[in-house]
Amino acid sequence: MRTIFYNIGSIQTMDENDSLLVEKSIIVNNNLIENIVDSIDEFESSDAKFVDVGGRAIVPGFIDAHNHLLWAGDRFNEHNLRMQGKTYAEIANMGGGIMETVRQTRKASEKELHRIGINRLNEALRNGTTFMEAKSGYGLSTEHELRLLSIVDDLKKEQNLPSIHSTWMGAHAVTPGHTYDSYTEEILSDQLPKVLDSNLAESADVFCEPGWFSVEQSEDILRSSRQGGLDLRMHVDEFKDGGGGELAADLGVRTADHAHHTSMDTRLKMKDAGVMTGFLPGTPYCNGDEWPNFAAVQGEGIPFTMATDFNPNCYINSIPFVGSLAVQRNGMNPFDALASVTREAAKSTPRSDELEHGIIKKGSIANFNILKSKHWESWCMTPSSSPIHSICLEGNYIEF
Ligand code: NIG
Ligand code: FE
Repeated sequence: MRTIFYNIGSIQTMDENDSLLVEKSIIVNNNLIENIVDSIDEFESSDAKFVDVGGRAIVPGFIDAHNHLLWAGDRFNEHNLRMQGKTYAEIANMGGGIMETVRQTRKASEKELHRIGINRLNEALRNGTTFMEAKSGYGLSTEHELRLLSIVDDLKKEQNLPSIHSTWMGAHAVTPGHTYDSYTEEILSDQLPKVLDSNLAESADVFCEPGWFSVEQSEDILRSSRQGGLDLRMHVDEFKDGGGGELAADLGVRTADHAHHTSMDTRLKMKDAGVMTGFLPGTPYCNGDEWPNFAAVQGEGIPFTMATDFNPNCYINSIPFVGSLAVQRNGMNPFDALASVTREAAKSTPRSDELEHGIIKKGSIANFNILKSKHWESWCMTPSSSPIHSICLEGNYIEF
């Protein structure tokens, strides 16, 4: 089945030559981009479906490379504590933070969590996300982590929603009655082997941060995960430079995220080790913290992605909003910001079918966003509403 997108204003392809194409048409065949052509005359009498793009601009579908998709309840009440001067760590130590969400998530039924997942995936799609990394991490026991992973697996089978890369993040925090040592032991002897047996996760992630999992505990969990065939991701240096970035470089993990307080020396080590830096500007936005120095990172040619970090402490499920923070608040140019949520994000978050994504070119998956505007830069400049007019999602045209 062919769909032909014509009357396109411009296509920001994000291909290797940074090509911005004008007056071209995109030929989609099933779920793939068959070709990008000057003329569609040869298709005129075919039974293809024709989509008039109306002179609008097109950009690749966004890849949200860091999203804590599945949890119940909320923690908006914690803002009050923050206003009283309590830090994220202090709120967690009072029994709030991740643990509060774990309590609410465990109480929710599978049906409720499934419904929550669908709503959030729809919200992400409405904002142009065509592929999302989804972490577990609000179960924190073997039984509850497997339950979350299995709901994510069900969500993968739903039609007309972003596709998912599933990450197991059992090492997110500990429940009362456990120490970080005892829980790490339980993860290594019970949780991880069962997660591996279940085949429900593609990657493992650890919250490596002073006050949460130590560098040593993180290393043990990550090495065993790698041995079991999982790809590795990390949360590092979110509040302090605690050695997480160093470990990321030593292990050569695929992506080290947050990395807000990582030193330049360590950033360069990560770059040399082929580790992607995953910036999450929504988190400091929600917490009232400073942003990292993006310009310095770009000046050193350090590869980076940006993602939402959607979670109860950072209720941002929109990649364009994250783009707006980088571009309109932090001086990043719209092209570099777009690269970080498309072709760069594809490096840290590949598709399991190995099709290329985050790029518009012959042979890649047909995932692209038709913007409301004829200007491609608009993707990150409408923070109060979605800039997306319609989407081609794996070959299916969806108009909002
Ligand atoms: O990436 N920092 C660790 N995990 C999440 C927050 C989780 C939560 O507060 O519920 C993050 O910001
Ligand atoms: Fe996170």
